[in-house]
Amino acid sequence: MAKQKTTVGTIDHEVLAFTAGRDVELDHALITVDCIGTAAHVTMLSKMPVQPALITEGECAQVIEALVEIIGLAQQDQFTIELADQDVHLAVERVLTDKLGDLGKKIHTCRSRNDQVAVDLRLYAKEQLLHTLEEAAALATALVDFGKKYEAVPMVGRTHMQPGMPSSVGLWATAHAESLLDDCTALIHAYELNDQCPLGSAASYGVPLPIDRQLTSDLLGFSRPTHNVLYANNGRGKLESIVLSAMSQVMLTLSRLAQDFMLFTMPEFNYFKLPAEFCTGSSIMPQKQNPDVCELVRAKASRVKAAELGVYDLIKGSPTGYNRDLQEAKELFMEGIATTRSCLRILAPMVAATEVNEQALLDGFSPDVFATDRALELVGEGMPFRDAYHHVKENLEELSSIDPSEAIKLKTHLGAPLGLDWNYFKERADSVTGYAMEKSAAFNKAVSALLGVKDPE
Ligand code: ARG
Repeated sequence: MAKQKTTVGTIDHEVLAFTAGRDVELDHALITVDCIGTAAHVTMLSKMPVQPALITEGECAQVIEALVEIIGLAQQDQFTIELADQDVHLAVERVLTDKLGDLGKKIHTCRSRNDQVAVDLRLYAKEQLLHTLEEAAALATALVDFGKKYEAVPMVGRTHMQPGMPSSVGLWATAHAESLLDDCTALIHAYELNDQCPLGSAASYGVPLPIDRQLTSDLLGFSRPTHNVLYANNGRGKLESIVLSAMSQVMLTLSRLAQDFMLFTMPEFNYFKLPAEFCTGSSIMPQKQNPDVCELVRAKASRVKAAELGVYDLIKGSPTGYNRDLQEAKELFMEGIATTRSCLRILAPMVAATEVNEQALLDGFSPDVFATDRALELVGEGMPFRDAYHHVKENLEELSSIDPSEAIKLKTHLGAPLGLDWNYFKERADSVTGYAMEKSAAFNKAVSALLGVKDPE
C-alpha cells in the first residue's frame, strides 16, 4: 500500500483519496471565501491582547497580501488544490507556508478546519442566496409583466382539472409570481439564519486563549456570531438543510409553473405557445417541438428536494461535535443551489417570450363555467344561495349567452381577476431585489475593508 505524506500525517494513498472525496474539486468554489475567513481570523489574532503578540500587525498585513494573491489566482482558475492537501483549507495553508515560511504555519492558531469549513459554507451560502433572490425576483417580475399584459384575457379557472369558473391569464400568472415571492421570504429567512458567524468554535469547544469572536464576525460582515461554540459546529449540515429547504420551495413553485405550461401548451388546449428556441425537436419525428425545459424543471425539483432530504438524513443521527459525514453534505448543498438557480434563470426569458392564444382561451369556455357566477347573481337579487344553486343546476341552458370578458370584469375585489394590485407585486419584487443588493453591497464593503482592496469578488 502506497503511503502519502500530508500536512497532517502520512496515510495510505487510497485512504487519502477516499477521505478527501470530491473536496479536491468542490472546494475550488470555496477558495475565495476561505481566504476571506482566514484574513478575518489572522486580523483578530493580531489584535489579541496577549504578550508576546501571536501575530504582529506587520505579519498580518503580509498574510493578507498573500491571501489577496491567492484570490487573484483563484479568479483565473490558477489555484490548485492537491490531493495531499485534502481540501481548500490545507491548500491555502500550504501556499502561505511556502511563501511566508514560519508565518504561514501560524495562521491556524486557535482554529480548526471545522471552523473554516463552517464559515466558508456560510459565506458561500450568503452569496448564493443573494443571487438566488435576485434571480427569483427577476422571474417573479417576468410573470407579473406577463400577467399584466394579459390581465383582461379570460381563461377557464379549473378545479380537479375540470372547468370551474371564469378566470384570467393575469390571475394565473400572478398566482405563480406570488408563490415565488413567498419563496423569497423563505430564502430571506434562510439568509438571516445563515448570517451568523461560526468562527471561533475551533474544534467545537473553544480555545483557552482570549479570541474575539465578535470581531471576526464584524470583520466578515455577519450580523452576529453564533453564540454557543459547540452549536457553531453542530449547525453545519443543519444550515445547509435550511437553505436547501428554501430552495426546494422555490423548485416547488417552478415545477408547478412548468407543469401548467406543459398542460396549456398541449395542442388540445393551445392556450400558450412556448418560444421555439425553448423547445427541442425529436430525432425521428420532424414536426416535434417538445417542452423539455419544463420537463427538466419538474424533474430538477425532485433532485433539489432529494438534496435537502439527503443533507437532513446525513445529519439526523449525527452525534454532537464534528463528524466527517458532514463533508458529504457539501456536494448536495452546492448542487441543490446551482440547480435551483439554473431553473430560475432559464424560465424568466421563457415566460417573457411565451405567446398567448386569446381565441383558444375563449374557445375553452363552455356555458356551464358561468354557473356559479349566475347563482351569485340570483343571490344578489335576493334568492338564498342553496336555492339559487339548485335553480342554476336545473336550468344550465340559461347560461349560454354570457361573455367571458364581461364575466371577469365583475370580479374586482382584492386579488380577483380584475382586482389585482399590480403595485403589490412590483413592490414585493423590488423589495427582494433591493434587499439582495443592499446585503451584497454591505458584504463587499466589509470584505474590501478587511482585505484592503477595492473589489475582492
Ligand atoms: N473537508 C472537511 C469537511 O468538509 C473539512 C473539515 C475536516 N475536519 C476534520 N476534522 N477532519 O468536513
